[in-house]
Amino acid sequence: MANLFLTPNKIITGEGALELAASHIENLGTRALIVTDNMMVKLGNLEKITKVLDKLNLKYEVYSEVNSEPTNVMVEKGKEIYKNSNCDFLISLGGGSPIDTMKAIGALIAHEGEISDFLGKIIENELPKMVAIPTTAGTGSEATQFTIISDITKGVKMLLSGQVLIPNLAIVDPVFTMTAPPIVTAATGIDALTHAIESYTSRKSQPMSDSFAISAVKRIFKYLKIAYTQGDNKEARTEMAIASLEAGIAFNNSSVTIVHGMSRPIGALFHVPHGLSNAMLLENCLNFAKDGCEEKLAQLAKAIGIENLGVKESAEAFIKEVSILCKDLKIMTLEEYGIEKEEFYEVLDKMAEDALESKSPLNTMKQPTKEDIIEIYKSLWG
Ligand SMILES: NC(=O)c1ccc[n+]([C@@H]2O[C@H](COP(=O)([O-])OP(=O)(O)OC[C@H]3O[C@@H](n4cnc5c(N)ncnc54)[C@H](O)[C@@H]3O)[C@@H](O)[C@H]2O)c1
Ligand SMILES: [Fe+2]
Repeated sequence: MANLFLTPNKIITGEGALELAASHIENLGTRALIVTDNMMVKLGNLEKITKVLDKLNLKYEVYSEVNSEPTNVMVEKGKEIYKNSNCDFLISLGGGSPIDTMKAIGALIAHEGEISDFLGKIIENELPKMVAIPTTAGTGSEATQFTIISDITKGVKMLLSGQVLIPNLAIVDPVFTMTAPPIVTAATGIDALTHAIESYTSRKSQPMSDSFAISAVKRIFKYLKIAYTQGDNKEARTEMAIASLEAGIAFNNSSVTIVHGMSRPIGALFHVPHGLSNAMLLENCLNFAKDGCEEKLAQLAKAIGIENLGVKESAEAFIKEVSILCKDLKIMTLEEYGIEKEEFYEVLDKMAEDALESKSPLNTMKQPTKEDIIEIYKSLWG
């Protein structure tokens, strides 16, 4: 069977990536819209980018209001600034939120209409050139054909896609991730792990995506806990930045599955950060999905050093290791996050429907029914 494999045009990794990237930014346009958040301004990261642009004699505008996971309103505002300032290319600096906002702004520049018009369609027109500079490890959005935007009127986190959403240039400098606080390091690290596991066990997995997924799983098991406990450990941050990129490349070329499908409704309705809602779901979803992908889970077990067990036992041991890692990273439960059980139960039906509507759960080898999804949501309450 033949498989298409897509990555950004150019990827620059490692300490000093931004400096090396300068000559590759030069020809992308004349005036950039930099999409970022207040934290990046405060940390001095924005200034690092504007210095490079100043040296290149490139002009820029800054939109630094992506201070939570992106909504249709934020995207609209960014589009207005881009148009009113006559920008002609885009740079995003931050976690997945600014990167996804940049992609959605690009989509609205290239098409008429609102961002919600693209739900269920493929975004096709050529976008302005895009540069992604991630500061979390992470979403892997710097390498993916997806953007996730909440429609605040409908209470839905929309998964929008199109090959044109893959940034032209990804600048993955681990130094930007060094300041991420432990709670962000944990949630985003588990997001990357979820991408890798879901990609590897997906119906749409392919040999090339498998290579990236397995490599990401190895790195994450070796380095995430170190990055969490020692934020200034450069080796761990460097390995996690690569792992996040690998996991992004992996699921970009296969897909995510049940965890992401079920995670988005929790984010949309209860504003749980994306990585955290994945982490809350990961073990229970894997326990559901394992019958359909035992062999693959056993291979992941082997990759992290679990030896001498049968296939079923290896798969179970891998899930156990995932659970231990989440505990070590102090991943909160829904209750600890402050969600009321009654309120959660009231929207179980909508969440299950929205999860299935996103089509991600259908990529799971053992495909869940609406009832299965409701049962898994309930199981999060013990
Ligand atoms: N497009 C994709 O392929 C894809 C994949 C996975 C997730 N996502 C989306 O990405 C978004 C989440 O992104 P995220 O998890 O990276 O979080 P985020 O961008 O929302 O950032 C989380 C918090 O961490 C802070 N932060 C980020 N980097 C920091 C740093 N280096 N130092 C200090 N603080 C820092 C931010 O200011 C913010 O307060 C969600 O909307 C999710 O749906 C997209
Ligand atoms: Fe994710």
